[in-house]
Amino acid sequence: MFFVHPQIKLNKFKKVNLAQKLESYFPGKQLIFTDMGRSAFKIIIEKLNLQNSEILMPAYLCDIFKPILERYNIKPIFLDIDLTTFHIKIDEMERKITPNTKAVLVCHTYGLLFDIDKLQKWGLPVIEDCAHAFGIKLKSDIAFFSLYKQLPVLRGGLLVCPKDWQIGELPKTSFSFRDFLSLLNCFSLFAFFFKKFGGEIAPKIVRKEKLSSPAGLNNVSLALFSRSLENFEKTLENRKKMALLLQEELRKLGFEAQKSDNSVFCYLSALVPKSLVGKRDEIVQKLSKNGIFCTRIWHTPIILNKEVQEEYKINLADFPNTVEAAQRIINFPLQNHYKEKDIPKIINSIRKVINQL
Ligand SMILES: Cc1ncc(COP(=O)(O)O)c(C=O)c1O
Repeated sequence: MFFVHPQIKLNKFKKVNLAQKLESYFPGKQLIFTDMGRSAFKIIIEKLNLQNSEILMPAYLCDIFKPILERYNIKPIFLDIDLTTFHIKIDEMERKITPNTKAVLVCHTYGLLFDIDKLQKWGLPVIEDCAHAFGIKLKSDIAFFSLYKQLPVLRGGLLVCPKDWQIGELPKTSFSFRDFLSLLNCFSLFAFFFKKFGGEIAPKIVRKEKLSSPAGLNNVSLALFSRSLENFEKTLENRKKMALLLQEELRKLGFEAQKSDNSVFCYLSALVPKSLVGKRDEIVQKLSKNGIFCTRIWHTPIILNKEVQEEYKINLADFPNTVEAAQRIINFPLQNHYKEKDIPKIINSIRKVINQL
């Protein structure tokens, strides 16, 4: 069975010096573990005083941002994306920026690295949404990660910010029953049962922040994160290698896989061939019957949320690529521990499913 979400591989584990390791990834930065990635984003908003302002952000993004925008009375200025990279179209910035635009949120969607140097000429503070991108080299000072997307750590965010930001101690959180279910979900047998029988229940137990204001990370997730960093570089190299192989094979089947310089491939993305657009969901469903559990992140990006459309007067015709991506996206399974022999197993199932359509 093949899953998108991180799986735990049981192996002998050597203790990692977490502080030392993180200092090598983020030299000279202040690092704060938070309950979730969104909690870290809230701290950034507060520290940059972005309340009651406008920020530029990708239209192709998850709608967890909606309540945060509302809470801080921030007006989003959405930018369409490029379908070959999933990065924002920066040529739209010039005409969308206003005197009240106080920052730009960029997202390294699926781990596809966006070069923030391209934004220099506007001189706006850049917030890097690295929810999908643990392992990239940061160029800016302000970023946040969502640890559980890429590593089997159940939940957790990481705020990266300048050392002189004064951030008091965050309230502690503890390991919950929801976290226990997430832990089980990191093992393929349980993951299979959750996928097979969890259809109705799953949406009710979506991950939420434990507190409404930013809180800290529980000790179990912190320990799992530390464990995941042993051999991280080596396993990431393997992940990249497997991703490139998978992309190559997907392209042969007519999928459009995204460009990948320095990507960390948190989610292996591809657009279904144009001839199969209306069959995307059927493909995903049929693949799951073959033990290939794909996802569709994001089949409903933030601008497809009806309330967002009404509140911010969104005209979908202004975002043709975001709308198309939402209709064609599939994220294929990829784990750090995959071997070359796993790729043909995935590809053969995809070929079989496509031939049945
Ligand atoms: C691009 C992106 N940014 C931020 C978040 C928020 O991360 P978290 O779920 O850890 O709060 C998510 C996930 O929901 C995401 O996909």
